[in-house]
Amino acid sequence: MRVSWGLLAFPAAVSAIENGINSWLRYAPLPNDQRPSNLRLPGAIMALSSNKTSPIYTAGQELQAGIKSILNQTLPLYHEPDEYIGSTILVATTGDFNGRQKGDVEAAATLADDGYLLRIRAGNVVILGQTERGALYGAFDYLSRIAQGRFSDADLVSNPDAPIRWVNQWDNMDGSIERGFAGPSIFFSNNAIPKNLNRVSQYARLLASIGINGIIVNNVNANANLLTNANIDGLGRIADAMRPYGVQVGISLNFASPQTLGGLATFDPLDQSVISWWTDKTNRLYKRIPDMAGYLVKANSEGQPGPLTYNRTLADGANLFAKAVQPHGGIVMFRAFVYDNHINPADLKADRGKHAVEFFKGLDGQFLDNVVVQIKYGPIDFQVREPASPLFANIPQTNTAIELQITQEYLGQQSHLVYVAPLWKTILDFDLRADDQPSRVRDVVAGRRFSNKRGGYAGVVNVGTNTTWLGSHLAMSNLYAYGRLAWDPTQDPQALLEDWTRLTFGSDPLVLGVITEISMASWPAYENYTGNLGIQTLTDILYTHYGPNPASQDNNGWGQWTRADHYGIGMDRTVSTGTGFSGQYPAEVAEKFESIETTPEELILWFHHVNYTHVLKSGKSVIQHFYDAHYAGAETAQTFPIAWESLRKKIDTERFNDVLFRLRYQAGHSIVWRDSICQFYYNLSGIPDGAGRVGRHEYRIEAETMTLKNYKLTGVNPVETASNLTAVVLVSNNTSGEATMKLNFDSGKYDIAINYFDLIGGKARYKAFLNGKLLLEWAGDLEDKLGHTFSTKLDGHSATRVTIRDVQIQKGNVLKITGLADGNELAPLDYVAILPQGVVD
Ligand code: GCU
Repeated sequence: MRVSWGLLAFPAAVSAIENGINSWLRYAPLPNDQRPSNLRLPGAIMALSSNKTSPIYTAGQELQAGIKSILNQTLPLYHEPDEYIGSTILVATTGDFNGRQKGDVEAAATLADDGYLLRIRAGNVVILGQTERGALYGAFDYLSRIAQGRFSDADLVSNPDAPIRWVNQWDNMDGSIERGFAGPSIFFSNNAIPKNLNRVSQYARLLASIGINGIIVNNVNANANLLTNANIDGLGRIADAMRPYGVQVGISLNFASPQTLGGLATFDPLDQSVISWWTDKTNRLYKRIPDMAGYLVKANSEGQPGPLTYNRTLADGANLFAKAVQPHGGIVMFRAFVYDNHINPADLKADRGKHAVEFFKGLDGQFLDNVVVQIKYGPIDFQVREPASPLFANIPQTNTAIELQITQEYLGQQSHLVYVAPLWKTILDFDLRADDQPSRVRDVVAGRRFSNKRGGYAGVVNVGTNTTWLGSHLAMSNLYAYGRLAWDPTQDPQALLEDWTRLTFGSDPLVLGVITEISMASWPAYENYTGNLGIQTLTDILYTHYGPNPASQDNNGWGQWTRADHYGIGMDRTVSTGTGFSGQYPAEVAEKFESIETTPEELILWFHHVNYTHVLKSGKSVIQHFYDAHYAGAETAQTFPIAWESLRKKIDTERFNDVLFRLRYQAGHSIVWRDSICQFYYNLSGIPDGAGRVGRHEYRIEAETMTLKNYKLTGVNPVETASNLTAVVLVSNNTSGEATMKLNFDSGKYDIAINYFDLIGGKARYKAFLNGKLLLEWAGDLEDKLGHTFSTKLDGHSATRVTIRDVQIQKGNVLKITGLADGNELAPLDYVAILPQGVVD
């Protein structure tokens, strides 16, 4: 039986418009110089399954479409061994292969669940999976090689490091996504599951290609209405759409559902009526979705209901669900993100970082076999730098998984390029030295270190309907690297990035070089210009989690404290004088973190409270390190758009322009970050920058010093997010105004940077004129172009910059900016910087 094209969701050829929808699976035609002259492909594809929902069947189609697109060769596709005699790309499970082909591939015996064997020999290719989806993974590996021009023979077995390789989506049923920066949900809309689930299939295809085998489709802050009969059927349709790719669907539960949805008087996990309610719901779900992956539960955290309400333990709560899914082979991922968010900041012993161990350590051994405790990588919350969570070493008798975040909640929300895999790697490779034995986090979550049966990875992704999935083309390297690391955490993040780049943008050495360089520089740069030495990201934790607001960390119940005062900064988490957190690590590690001398400097403020004048190993004081790092980080970010511009002719216009726009925005916003943080700590410590930069900007003209018409001065909040602590806005929202300045700079060529604020709630219009000649016209409409959470106020989220390049200026020229208000946006202006070539102000 010959199969026709296009039954599944993938396109047969590279889409003409590079809108990102196929991401790393775009299968661009391979340039001639990358094809071996003697290239000999097998004569046909043999995918041993005629079942259209089987991943083997999918693999056949994918291979056919991929080879056609990459090499422009159409190979016939068969599903029965006797349909074709000759050389083939054969895809099968080991069982089918041996049974139907009478094959004998010894290596197949070493295949683990989901593992695959790939044998490429001259004109013959054998791809075998222990499971059907394992075979699909092998097909994707083969295609990835061809797409990267790698045609050499191979004979390998690849087994996943851990059985659980899931993604989590924080999608709400109304279609919004918590901490999603790429448009509304592909899974939900208007409190239901939409009819058209094409994007869901396409997502499953991407996930399968990097070895992901499970997905939780709804927010951890879960809505009980997901469990109505209509929605259970909708979830069934989602599962149907993902099944051909071997991605199993699971859901987040709201612990109080028996009461809120079921009308019971209680949601006590030990109450018989509650147990029956969950058993019934679970049975209904499995009736519609027999291969459902299981449940994810956030309980007693950030206001969510949980077993503690009834004085039951978290293990009682987890086991309630574990018993319900157990007969169906399901798993319960129970989140360790349990903490009290009303802690007293005046209590110097209090520490949110300690809560996970305090809640879970005593429960070790009490969780049923099919419960996996899902632990965020650090003790707080996806910060730019954290130590590995000590919980990984404290519950040896419990299955564990690590929770990573692909969506860049605290890391620039996809409006900043931050390649996060190197950060994950620091955690995965961290050796906790439990019982003085090697105990790397990756060995713990794989189940190896403590001989646990289950475990693995959960990545919070939050793709949306944006065609780029995450809202930014370059951000997709994070999803790619996540899947590949979950499969094999020993891989090098740079090598993964390079694979991704070749697949996404091609193998041109310049393209590869630039994308590698800026991506690898991006996490260190972001750490430098946001928060360093382990002090966390210093973003506004009370509002959007996006721009700078260091004061928001302290003096509230959230416990993300920095303990900054006039003299010093950092949390004393030592056992001897602090909160005792460091004592939660096994002895060797605890000892290291207990002392300032042996604590790695990138985490020094995480574990210790020191004076700003404390001298680091570099010989610099802490405060000077802050200043220098922020300047260095912002300077690195300035190089990103410049490097990208060198790719102008090498990348399609659509993606080139989109990325360039973002990198320019990031360069501008990194200066907002730099100045806000430096100014904040200068105000607090009173210690000037040894290099004389902080607060002194020789190329700047503050808006408040300009000749203003219809503009008035305004403060901003936090104050340090405006240069000179002041900005200007139009006097009313139905007017236009002008800010004029004389340029007393030597005649020459300059870049003119204009810092303004772009809020949500209006699209003000601006024009910049030099001596009456229009230089640039723009609108405050970034909310249409970028996906981060926008602010309604003048602050570090809305502060931004536009730059007009290479402007010839004569001394005494007049620069005029006009602003026209729209809605709540009163055309706010902060300053103008007249920058000589190559100067970062
Ligand atoms: C963070 C995040 C929340 C999320 C929570 C969680 O606090 O800001 O939006 O619900 O983590 O992981 O449960």
